[in-house]
Amino acid sequence: MTQLEHQDDNSEASGLKKDAQKAGARVGLTSDEIIINGGRPLMGRIEVRGAKNLAPKAMVAALLGKTPSVLRNVPNVSDIRVVAGLLALHGVLVTRGEEPGEWRFDPSNVEIAHHADIDAHAGSSRIPILFCGPLLHRLGEAFIPDLGGCRIGDRPIDFHLDALRKFGAVVEKLPSGISLTAPNGLHGANIELPYPSVGATEQVLLTSVLAKGQTELRNAAIEPEITDLICILQKMGAIITVEPNRVIFIEGVEELRGYDHRALFDRNEAASWASAALATKGDVFVGGARQEEMMTFLNVFRKVGGDFDIQDDGIRFFHPGGELKPVTIETDVHPGFMTDWQQPLVVALTQAEGVSTIHETVYENRFGFTDALNKMGANIEVFRDGLHDENRRVKRREFEQAAVISGPTPLKGAEIEVPDLRGGFSYLIAGLTAEGQTKVTNLGIISRGYENFIEKLRLLGADFVFEG
Ligand code: EPZ
Repeated sequence: MTQLEHQDDNSEASGLKKDAQKAGARVGLTSDEIIINGGRPLMGRIEVRGAKNLAPKAMVAALLGKTPSVLRNVPNVSDIRVVAGLLALHGVLVTRGEEPGEWRFDPSNVEIAHHADIDAHAGSSRIPILFCGPLLHRLGEAFIPDLGGCRIGDRPIDFHLDALRKFGAVVEKLPSGISLTAPNGLHGANIELPYPSVGATEQVLLTSVLAKGQTELRNAAIEPEITDLICILQKMGAIITVEPNRVIFIEGVEELRGYDHRALFDRNEAASWASAALATKGDVFVGGARQEEMMTFLNVFRKVGGDFDIQDDGIRFFHPGGELKPVTIETDVHPGFMTDWQQPLVVALTQAEGVSTIHETVYENRFGFTDALNKMGANIEVFRDGLHDENRRVKRREFEQAAVISGPTPLKGAEIEVPDLRGGFSYLIAGLTAEGQTKVTNLGIISRGYENFIEKLRLLGADFVFEG
């Protein structure tokens, strides 16, 4: 029996939430809506916990161990509950540990699950695709339902399936998903990714560690979340060497044991609250944030006119006064400017004195959220085929978009619907920045990646009503 309903107890936050709920009920809001009264700077301290883009992958890695694993600092976000449900469905005993954010996984009795049940659990997550390798190692077969995830592009999985075939998997596409078998087991492979895909790199790592022989992965992703997953696998007994120039070398081993690991902090959530502090002329201490994984963001934050204080237990992000300045940004793979950072930052750039340009080079459709910002008074032009700019460091990529943001433009409250995770958080920032009231609907998407964001808004002094 899983203890999924066990919620992290945060009495202050839950008290704050109750106040907001009473106010929300009075104005007849549904639990998926919030009304924000803008114009007040965010001030105070919040804590970010483990990375939404690491913790679910670490949970999948527990399937590979012969003995139980412990994952700490796990955020209370819906992707975690989706993966916990899928693990339990496959016979893993999933329980909550003593400390907040501690999850335990006992993979002693992994078993095949029914396709219909898997489908029901998959939800809007992309993580199920990472079950392939571990289930093929444990059971010799796997069924993966159609994937969810933010609508910021096609989100294909061709790199994943090509890699699995190279390991010896037989892949069959079914109307409801993908069925895989490994008739002769899984063996090492030489794989070169067409693009340093985070998910495909995770797929190769989770499959190669128990495959017979050696695997060489070229053009790998090296995001901090990938490094943290490699640390977890190394704790389990894997032999993984990260070489120069995005090459990862894995020597397959016979057996892996469980791990005990504290998940890396969520740098995307930290960057989102930092952008909110900038846009609202506020001062927010983000507990748990670390400089090393945020260096590129910190440079841009400073160039726009923000300032920050690095402490041992987090980073203080604040607007030091004066005007915000325009910047030209190019999203890229690590250690470049993370694509997940651009959407929240766009709102602050609408308040900068001048013209900013963002070249989005990772996803082909990640500027849809700007329509609603223009409805609020922003002046953002999107170039679907990108913008040629001769003094750019890298040449324009195959599919790329650009957004040109002219500011400063005062924002006026409006009713807007959350389109995707990071765009949704940028709408909260827009409501906090705008004059008047903004009603943000379809909030559920935001809870996929931002733990207890309503309580955090309340802790930071935001003025809003929420029924929740
Ligand atoms: C991960 O997505 C993150 N999600 C994303 O964060 C993040 O933006 C992305 O990595 C890039 O860093 C999770 O970790 C759950 P990719 P992922 O494979 O793994 C193309 C957020 O807001 N591609 O690195 O799905 C793909 O279409 C989310 O937290 C293929 O063409 O991203 C994209 O253009 C959004 N074929 C590019 O590669 C494939 O088989 C990068 O995708 C796989 C990917």
